[in-house]
Amino acid sequence: MRMVDIIAKKRDGHELTTAEIDFFIQGYTAGTIPDYQASALAMAIYFQDMTDRERADLTMAMVHSGETIDLSGIKGIKVDKHSTGGVGDTTTLVLAPLVAALDIPVAKMSGRGLGHTGGTTDKLDSIAGFQTEISKEDFIRLVNTDKVAVIGQTGNLTPADKKLYALRDVTGTVNSIPLIASSIMSKKIAAGSDAIVLDVKTGAGAFMKNIADAEQLAHAMVKIGNNVGRRTMAIISDMSQPLGYAIGNALEVKEAIDTLKGQGPADLHELVLTLGSQMVVLANGAKTLAEARERLEEVMHNGKAIEKFKVMLKNQGGDPSVVDHPEKLPEAKYKIDLPAKQTGYVAEIVADEVGVAAMQLGAGRATKEDNIDVAVGIIMHKKVGDHVETGESLLTIHTNREDINAIKQKLYENIKIADHAERIPLIYSVIT
Ligand code: URA
Ligand code: CA
Repeated sequence: MRMVDIIAKKRDGHELTTAEIDFFIQGYTAGTIPDYQASALAMAIYFQDMTDRERADLTMAMVHSGETIDLSGIKGIKVDKHSTGGVGDTTTLVLAPLVAALDIPVAKMSGRGLGHTGGTTDKLDSIAGFQTEISKEDFIRLVNTDKVAVIGQTGNLTPADKKLYALRDVTGTVNSIPLIASSIMSKKIAAGSDAIVLDVKTGAGAFMKNIADAEQLAHAMVKIGNNVGRRTMAIISDMSQPLGYAIGNALEVKEAIDTLKGQGPADLHELVLTLGSQMVVLANGAKTLAEARERLEEVMHNGKAIEKFKVMLKNQGGDPSVVDHPEKLPEAKYKIDLPAKQTGYVAEIVADEVGVAAMQLGAGRATKEDNIDVAVGIIMHKKVGDHVETGESLLTIHTNREDINAIKQKLYENIKIADHAERIPLIYSVIT
């Protein structure tokens, strides 16, 4: 087999065989196929697309390019949730104990990653003592006994994806549905879950800026998952404004605690119930989404969900008293309000720019080497569509630095006030 023939075949719009896709991924991972040939193929795929069969084959070839996590030691159906990423997205922190409170196993592997705020493991770092660097044996044991555990990213998962994604990034081939869908799904499948719920975000703070693209991506991923034997569902949700009110690590832990008690912000509460219902149905914990939602609401209100969070903290060395005493979480030195400069309605809160502001405060990483300050971030006081009076606080900046004039300026520029404003829907579609 020759790589040049595979490139030409795809360039001319033909379907690649399973063997040809395997040859490419194995050769590229091993370094016997050079970057220039891989980028030519990526460009051919960009223009010619891939059939459902090719997409499934590409996904599985990437899964098999490295280690995979074996969760077979955990009893029951393991459901994982993946978000395509957003600003102030606190859902994982809530969903893991919430779904586990229904005795459904949640084996969460979570990365640190780059971005506006940290990953789930960074957020959990704000709880004194909490350890995500646990052994695989302890991880499996905890999920079996208490239904929930969080482990930091381990192992060399999907090296082919890492290499190909970096190449796509510099060759104008990131925005290809078959390539994005296989990239995301390969990582989820390698992480070992039996079923997958996808939260595909759309809007300024999201990877997919418009709803049509987000829906196309969601359908592609759901199809790949189901074609390779992992039951998969998805939703399309808004990320034009930040989710909930808190953006920042310890601040989001507090928001997650409130939400687990049924007292969270309306949008985060709704998103968690929507995604959680899909997880419960996929794990056979309910027959319908409506029944699943009812069960989840029940554990939020009878205290079982927050109790499960405490158990999760205790099991991994964290201090569970933060649940009842959130003042024990790290706190920033200064809390600075941002007063509105005019009266009207909040017309826009540009999610990604507000996220960058939080990152500049120290809540997230611009490069892998950056350290996170878990105490800092932003608490929004308004959602798009809310009324605001001159002088009223739009948000509170939690900071350990005093020189934040540039950050304030950035926030003013990205929170627009107008005479009229419509509320933004949170969930655009549910794909089952
Ligand atoms: N996120 C991924 O993990 N892969 C892509 O290809 C795009 C976004
Ligand atoms: Ca939030």
